[in-house]
Amino acid sequence: MSGVREISLKINGEAGSARVPERKNLVDFLREDVGLTGSHVGCEHGVCGACTLEVNGEMVRGCLMLAMQADGASVTTVEGLADSGRSAALREAFATRNALQCGYCTPGMLASALEYVEGGGAADRSAIREHLSGNYCRCTGYQAIVDAVCDLIEGREGA
Ligand code: FES
Ligand code: FES
Repeated sequence: MSGVREISLKINGEAGSARVPERKNLVDFLREDVGLTGSHVGCEHGVCGACTLEVNGEMVRGCLMLAMQADGASVTTVEGLADSGRSAALREAFATRNALQCGYCTPGMLASALEYVEGGGAADRSAIREHLSGNYCRCTGYQAIVDAVCDLIEGREGA
């Protein structure tokens, strides 16, 4: 039988604590208990990437991590990436290139694309595709997403 755990963590820079069922995953905890619904849930099996968010500086699948495993961690959701300005240029590039349609994949796609850009990734279409291969999009055909990431990197290189 599973129980409830008390956890302390930082979410988007704010420290707090919560009581979480041992089996509740991180993305459900953030959406249902914290009210941060920016991260989406698709497959719940670590396949689609819709739930991608940052834990201790690394992008992870929020559906594959239990909330109690985030005890002591610093978690940044898509809301936090936006509020801090970290994703501003990327979101603008996505908008310019029409790199989203229904938007369901977009929070996770932005998180993974940001990981690529912040990691110093090159404006190399196949490398971008490879990096984003764990994020599924059923609308765009990926072309516009890759264009947006390329534009951003090329713009920075040319600046
Ligand atoms: S919902 Fe987490 S990878 Fe699909
Ligand atoms: S924009 Fe609809 S799934 Fe990607």
